Amino acid sequence: MPLILCHSPKGGVGTSFIAAQLAIHLAQRGHDVSALDFTYQDSLKLYFGLTPAQGLPELNDGSADQIAVSGVALFSAYGLRRDATFQDLLGKPDHSPFAGKKIFIADVAAGDRETKDMLLPHAALHVCPLHPRPGSLAALPKVEPGTATIDLAKTGFVLNHLDDTHRLSRHTHIFLRELFGSKLLGTIRRDEAVNEASAMFEPLARFAPASVALNDLRRLVTTVEQAAGLVEAAEEATS
Ligand SMILES: Nc1ncnc2c1ncn2[C@@H]1O[C@H](COP(=O)(O)OP(=O)(O)O)[C@@H](O)[C@H]1O
Ligand SMILES: [Mg+2]
Repeated sequence: MPLILCHSPKGGVGTSFIAAQLAIHLAQRGHDVSALDFTYQDSLKLYFGLTPAQGLPELNDGSADQIAVSGVALFSAYGLRRDATFQDLLGKPDHSPFAGKKIFIADVAAGDRETKDMLLPHAALHVCPLHPRPGSLAALPKVEPGTATIDLAKTGFVLNHLDDTHRLSRHTHIFLRELFGSKLLGTIRRDEAVNEASAMFEPLARFAPASVALNDLRRLVTTVEQAAGLVEAAEEATS
């Protein structure tokens, strides 16, 4: 089940950015990756260096031209959320659209719990980004209402926008490291190059190869590979 579901109960914490970067780095590491934008905002493509005017093909539109950037096939899946055939397929585990060897990275908007709940049973891993800020941490009980953080079976957290020059950011990092333990997949430092790259319609790796966030993402992707069981899948494919 190589679906990696990227969703946070808090918006603006870098979910789309991280989804895009995970897709790009997994593709670089030899995986066959598609990135699915389930959001109305349609901003996932910006982190691939596309412009707002560039439309993405719908995942279920076989006749549309494919778009691949940085080795990742990009699709809009916003319409698919309410597509009866897709929902039907999700209801039949043997026919899961995510059952093949291809890796799907799904970017789901914070407020869209419906889509998150619909995809979670099919996900190998749920990546939940958070900011080291009170408003972000206050959303923790909303990750899976009714389930304690420690009991979240598929969820791994990413602390994004870390800034060691800020005391709250440092302290939050220490606190969450203890709270999450191995559920903390990684941390990503705040890096203005992330925004500058989008503003220039360039992928981060091309715009700022020495970006500190990029360095952190490289580390994150190896942890995600392990947590999502992608290492064994890659080994099987080559054996
Ligand atoms: N590590 C980072 N450093 C600096 N800016 C970041 C970082 N991660 C994300 N951003 C910026 O934060 C904003 C929100 O990111 P986005 O991925 O669109 O959030 P979400 O999908 O959670 O709403 C964007 O302007 C993005 O460029
Ligand atoms: Mg987003």
